[in-house]
This record gives sequence, C-alpha cells and structure tokens, in this order.
Amino acid sequence: MATPDPVALFDSGEGGLTVLRHLVERFPGEHFIYAADSAHFPYGDKSLDTVRDWFLAFLQFFVTQGARAVVIACNTATAAALDAARDAVDIPVFGVVEPAAVRAARITGNGHVGVLSTLGTFNSGLYPQFLTRQNPDLQVVAKPCPILVTMAENGTVRGASVEQEVRQCVTPVLEQGVDTIILGCTHFPHMREVFNHVVDGQAVIVDPGEEAADLLEQELGLAPQRSSVSEVQAWTSGDPIRFRAIAHLLCPNIPLRAHPLIWNSGAVTEPENENLTEFDATDDNS
Ligand code: DGL
Repeated sequence: MATPDPVALFDSGEGGLTVLRHLVERFPGEHFIYAADSAHFPYGDKSLDTVRDWFLAFLQFFVTQGARAVVIACNTATAAALDAARDAVDIPVFGVVEPAAVRAARITGNGHVGVLSTLGTFNSGLYPQFLTRQNPDLQVVAKPCPILVTMAENGTVRGASVEQEVRQCVTPVLEQGVDTIILGCTHFPHMREVFNHVVDGQAVIVDPGEEAADLLEQELGLAPQRSSVSEVQAWTSGDPIRFRAIAHLLCPNIPLRAHPLIWNSGAVTEPENENLTEFDATDDNS
C-alpha cells in the first residue's frame, strides 16, 4: 500500500514534539513529518510579524514535501501566522490555540482560566480572545513564562531548578483563583510531571497537544493505521545532531531521523550534501 501524504508539524524547536507525541500515540502508522526553526529559537521574544514570515517559509517547505495538512504545533507561530498560512496554501492548516481554548472554556467550573505562554503569545491576546469568544464571562489570567521555554529546549524538564521556575509561574496564577490552566506553549508539556506536582490538583491542566489530536481525528479522519510507530522524518534549521539528541531525551519513544535545513534568501531548503549531518535515531551510538 502506498504511503499516505504526510501531516506536517512545525515548532520553533523541540516544543512541538509534545504535540507529535500525542499524534504518534493516537494514530500509529500515520505519516508525520516535523520541522523546527531552531536557528531562530526562541520565537517568544520576536515580533509576531517576524515569526509569521519565518513560519510561512516553513509552510512552503512542507508543500514541497507533499504535506496533506499542516499543524502549527507552536502557540506563538499560531498567534502570528494562522490566518496568513490559511490564505497562503490550499491544504488545511491547524493551530493549537483554539482547540485548547475551547476545551478550557468547556471544563472550567468557576470561569477563571489561567494561560501560561511565551511573551509573544501573551502579547497577541489570542488566548483571551478565543476563550471569551466561547464564553464572554470568563476571567483569563495570562502569564508569560519564557525561562521554562529555554529550559525545555535544552532538555531540562525535571529537577529542583525546573520545579522552582514552574512554581514561580503557577503560584500567582493559582492565587487568582483559576480552576483550569492551559499550558499555552508547547514546550511546557515536556515538564508535565513537574506541573502536576506543583499544581497538585488545584486546577485542571489543559495540554494543547491532546486537543490537537482530537481536532485532527475530526477534521482529517486520522485513525490508527497499524500497531507499529513509523519513523518520523524531522528537519531543523539548527544542528540536526543536537536536535535529535534532545528529541530522544524528551521523547524516547518517538523514532526520529533529523535532517538539516538552511535559510537562503528568505526560504528554507535542504542543503545539497545533507548526508554530512543527517543523524539516525536508530543509531545507538548517540
Ligand atoms: N513552543 C512555542 C510555543 O508554543 C514557542 C517557544 C519559543 O520559541 O519561544 O509558543
């Protein structure tokens, strides 16, 4: 049977793997590809216009790879580029902000919802916009937590330093009486254990990756293909060896091969001699 065209996921770095993980678990055998603009990481402190232009270049790359749909597995890029992306290509493009907002609006009991995110997502106001569209009476407590993004990107997702930073983000939000917290940056679910420990049942945690999986099931009809998990081809504008090593640390169950991409006159392309830096996840000498 011919391999179906891939569903492509994008993030500024390792964060979108938290979305990919849900998709791979829910839809084993489905064909996913992943790309990270690691050269420009972090996106959270850049202007939304700049992030939009960078993402649109990756979108064109996905088209050249024959993607049948694209998931912007990055809240900041969703905030910056979702509308422009939908105008730019004929294939479906999904973001992670709306499904997470819809879910949080549905489950909050007291109408107070916390949103932890990058500065860019915070400044965009997109979460409050989508949340209050669901229910105008919702009270939204938003907080940027950029330090956690960098920690997760470097593979530091547990331990005392992570717990301290998570506590600094979560405590003021809990003090505002929220009963639901959206992890509004895809890097944060890499620290889910620490969030669970710090939140300690005082609020329900919403992970946009889970909601994205539900959305793709509904919109694309994704379903498990067979029991085995297929190797994911990934590209990064940074160092593929480093990218794959941290991906393996964060998500050891996702078999992943990393390839390089280079920025060239506003576009991202594969270098001519990619074999020099390609790195195979099945190579145990990492
Ligand atoms: N993981 C991304 C997000 O969901 C962006 C993190 C960053 O590059 O600042 O917003």
